[in-house]
Amino acid sequence: MKKICIIGSGYVGLVSGACFAELGNRVILTDNDESKIESLKKGKIPIYEPGLDKLLQKNKTRISFSSSIKEGVLKSEIIFICVGTPPCDDGSADLSNVERVAAEIAGNLNSYKLVVDKSTVPVETGEWVKTTIERNSSKKSAAAFDVASNPEFLREGTAIHDFLNPDRVVIGVSSKKAEKILTELYKPIKAPIVVTDIKSAELIKHASNSFLAMKISFINAVGNICEKVGADVTKVAHGMGLDKRIGRAFLDAGPGFGGFCFPKDLEAFYWISKKVGYDFGLLHEVKKINEEQKKNIAKKVEDALWIVKDKTIAVLGLAFKPNTDDMRMAPSIDILNELNSKGAKIKAYDPQSMAKAKELMPYIRYCKNVEETCKSADCILLLTDWEEFKNIDFKKIKKILKQSILIDARNVYDPGKMKKLGFIFKGIGK
Ligand code: UGA
Repeated sequence: MKKICIIGSGYVGLVSGACFAELGNRVILTDNDESKIESLKKGKIPIYEPGLDKLLQKNKTRISFSSSIKEGVLKSEIIFICVGTPPCDDGSADLSNVERVAAEIAGNLNSYKLVVDKSTVPVETGEWVKTTIERNSSKKSAAAFDVASNPEFLREGTAIHDFLNPDRVVIGVSSKKAEKILTELYKPIKAPIVVTDIKSAELIKHASNSFLAMKISFINAVGNICEKVGADVTKVAHGMGLDKRIGRAFLDAGPGFGGFCFPKDLEAFYWISKKVGYDFGLLHEVKKINEEQKKNIAKKVEDALWIVKDKTIAVLGLAFKPNTDDMRMAPSIDILNELNSKGAKIKAYDPQSMAKAKELMPYIRYCKNVEETCKSADCILLLTDWEEFKNIDFKKIKKILKQSILIDARNVYDPGKMKKLGFIFKGIGK
């Protein structure tokens, strides 16, 4: 049993804390947002992540919440930094939260501490965390400490499964002691542990997210060619993906990648590469294709409707992917802003993200279900492939539509079946 303090109770912090407790450790989850901590104490989870509430509840005897970093650090040996690293205007990662937290840890080194960075950060952040702790600790009373990097590879919506069943655990360390503590901590997890230096671990995270984003942009670009020549991107992805060197995962063409990870990590990786002296232009292309893909979707709607002004568009799904309420950098925002600017009337339904979407897109008429959304619409636009959209009775829906036009931005539906039902149907890359 290890004593762990998690600093930052957002997606990564809450999931990691709950999972470390599940593995038998004692966890103090901290956050500087007092109201969030008060809600968590009452069992209210600020995010939608399947299974998280149950896991926190199941392990409640091993989990406590505090708004004091000091309390968490004093009572723990391993301190995980899980704070946000949002993008700055120039695309670099804003690391001020990481610096502030490191300085606060420095003032509370009552015994040996292993300070582990789990937040997604650019290479060389570990060195700065070490320097910040050294500069802010009193040389006389401070105990020894180590800094380590332990990037997360958690997908929203399946984060608990990903934590407990990862493809690999990456540990970047600069001392044998730190290596021993972290390998022991992850021992119950059945996955290869990759032990590296701290900088390599930091790069593994940025390179992995950027590589996955590249796969998505690559297949979206191939999809555009498929549309021009009459080929089918799903078949191309299948044929490519069977090659083990390529792999089928992350080759689903769609409206482009969103969320708070890929877009910002891609930018931050480009920025840090440039800063250290390498212009990683490929990453710019990946971003460019992604931006164009969102425009392509809006254009598909326009092409199908001719005049968009005053037409009613029924949008199914707003979140950047299913099983999350997260709207951050969701492709739906750019696509619907574009259609709204052209005068379309937009109705939408998403099983989880509507509260968050309302703040970003107040012009949408939010509906209770698929039927209400589709009633009298000129066109259905599917943007997120939630499970409940996969078995819609389109025979029934067709009767309440004004025009039978269906744009499937996630390739969920069978074009042949939809055409047979009498829909004007457009998928992606088909
Ligand atoms: C991503 C990574 O997958 C995680 O490994 C990583 O830990 C996380 O970022 C992070 O850095 O915190 P996440 O953003 O939750 O996880 O979502 P993904 O499942 O990776 O999907 C990202 C976006 O790509 C979504 O908009 C999704 O719809 C899109 N996507 C994904 C596609 O368009 N096509 C695909 O084939 C796969």
